[in-house]
Amino acid sequence: MLGRLNHVAIAVPDLGIAAARYAETLGATVSEAVDLPEHGVQVVFVDLGNAKVELLGVLGEGSPIEAFLARHPAGGMHHVCYEVADLAAARDRLVRSGARVLGSGEQKIGAHGKPVLFLHPAEMFGTLVELEEV
Ligand code: CO
Repeated sequence: MLGRLNHVAIAVPDLGIAAARYAETLGATVSEAVDLPEHGVQVVFVDLGNAKVELLGVLGEGSPIEAFLARHPAGGMHHVCYEVADLAAARDRLVRSGARVLGSGEQKIGAHGKPVLFLHPAEMFGTLVELEEV
């Protein structure tokens, strides 16, 4: 069921500083910052070839990563995203096994324009997990 690692998302207090650190210090290929108002985040994509790092900054009031940054002021790993071929089937199987899907339980359109859902960290060993249909 589980496919490739799609991305690791890192919440950062200052997206410009984080993007520059990846671009200049690490020599990575980074995108321009992209606003995702429906998700309350601004994202910089770091292209690693086989996967991405997504640097997440706060966008607007009530951003979902505000509380995370309050607990982790220096930033921190926010979630990992795995690819699945059939998101509805993956959700049903996970829910049957006791996993919890965040929000309404219905898939949403994620940062890449593809259907996604998030699994509660409590059943995923303390890690927020995003599943993306590809
Ligand atoms: Co993500």
